[in-house]
Amino acid sequence: MLDTLVSEFDKALRALFVAAPTRRPMPGADLPEADMSDDEMRHVAALMRVNHCGEICAQALYQGQALSSHDPAVRGELKQAAWEETEHLNWTERRIAELGGRKSILNPLWYAGSLAIGVVVGKCGDRWSLGFLAETERQVEGHLENHKARLPVQDRKSWEMLEQMKADEIRHAETANHYGARELPVPVRLAMKLSSKLMTRLSYVA
Ligand SMILES: [Fe+2]
Ligand SMILES: [Fe+2]
Repeated sequence: MLDTLVSEFDKALRALFVAAPTRRPMPGADLPEADMSDDEMRHVAALMRVNHCGEICAQALYQGQALSSHDPAVRGELKQAAWEETEHLNWTERRIAELGGRKSILNPLWYAGSLAIGVVVGKCGDRWSLGFLAETERQVEGHLENHKARLPVQDRKSWEMLEQMKADEIRHAETANHYGARELPVPVRLAMKLSSKLMTRLSYVA
């Protein structure tokens, strides 16, 4: 029990304070940096801060669900998806640095909240847990599409990154569905939309 606690706490600290690893190269890394005004760079860095914050939440959600899930196949799939979320964390972090921006000061707060939600959802059983995951990924997909449209047109580097992340999130949702994800009730879906709106608004500015 103590071992688990220590290792989970270690995961949290890593997600929040240590540079995330990646196996795949950062999408768009080979493209030249676009010519952007200071305002445009600030805006893109803020969008990336929001995405980074979302990936911090994804780390916590997956960690929470993997802790609670009993099915080894589901746990394995969660692990693979969680690894890709770690890569997203790496990419967004690097893009923020390239643009001279900074990460959200609220990250520890979002992490704690998402971990709690992940554990609670995980306790509801694998099919609800997967349903929550599928819905989260669908909402993130919509959100990434929205961010792609809000990028300055010349910023192909950020566009490539968001496009790859979107493809990954779509696959994560499909995997969750494949393992028997349940459709969440409408009020839960709405509550999730509202809380992600709050998170995106706050992390854009802080
Ligand atoms: Fe992600
Ligand atoms: Fe995902």
